[in-house]
Order: sequence, then C-alpha cells, then structure tokens
Amino acid sequence: MIAAAYDIKKAYHDSDQLIEVLIGTSLEINKHDFICITGKSGCGKSTLLHIMGLLDAPDAGEVFIAET
Ligand SMILES: Nc1ncnc2c1ncn2[C@@H]1O[C@H](COP(=O)(O)OP(=O)(O)O)[C@@H](O)[C@H]1O
Ligand SMILES: [Mg+2]
Repeated sequence: MIAAAYDIKKAYHDSDQLIEVLIGTSLEINKHDFICITGKSGCGKSTLLHIMGLLDAPDAGEVFIAET
C-alpha cells in the first residue's frame, strides 16, 4: 500500500456553525491503482486531498504515506 487514510474526521467552524465535512472517511491506495474521488461540490473532496497530501491535519484519524 502506498497511501491510506483511516476514519478521517474534519470539521470547519463557520461563524457559529460547525460544518462536519469528513465524518469517518477511509481509503487505501495500492501501487498501480488509478483512483477518482467524485462527489458533488462541497462534499469534501479537496479537504480529503489536502489531508492525504499532508497540507492540512485531520481532527481525528490516521494518514499513512509510502507504506510498504
Ligand atoms: N478553510 C475552510 N474554512 C471553512 N470551511 C471550509 C474550508 N475549506 C472547505 N470548507 C467547507 O468544507 C466543505 C467541503 O469543501 P471542499 O473540501 O472544498 O469540497 P469539494 O472539494 O468536494 O468541493 C464546504 O462546505 C466548504 O465550504
Ligand atoms: Mg474541491
């Protein structure tokens, strides 16, 4: 496995509102996999990619990169 995320949770505060974007997202990516992350606008695709790319931190969960 070259990348994985387990039970990722991420929420944003928007003024007095808590927006729960990722509420337990998991995925595993293996060598030679070709994956697409799909979903309607605002569902959390970029949030997940930022977390898996280590550009942002999850509130909970684990990210693994370059697992062998
Ligand atoms: N930095 C941020 N601060 C507050 N809310 C955010 C931030 N980034 C994303 N959001 C909110 O999180 C939700 C998911 O956004 P995003 O991951 O960009 O979705 P997608 O890429 O699937 O369109 C949206 O409701 C968006 O408004
Ligand atoms: Mg996006």
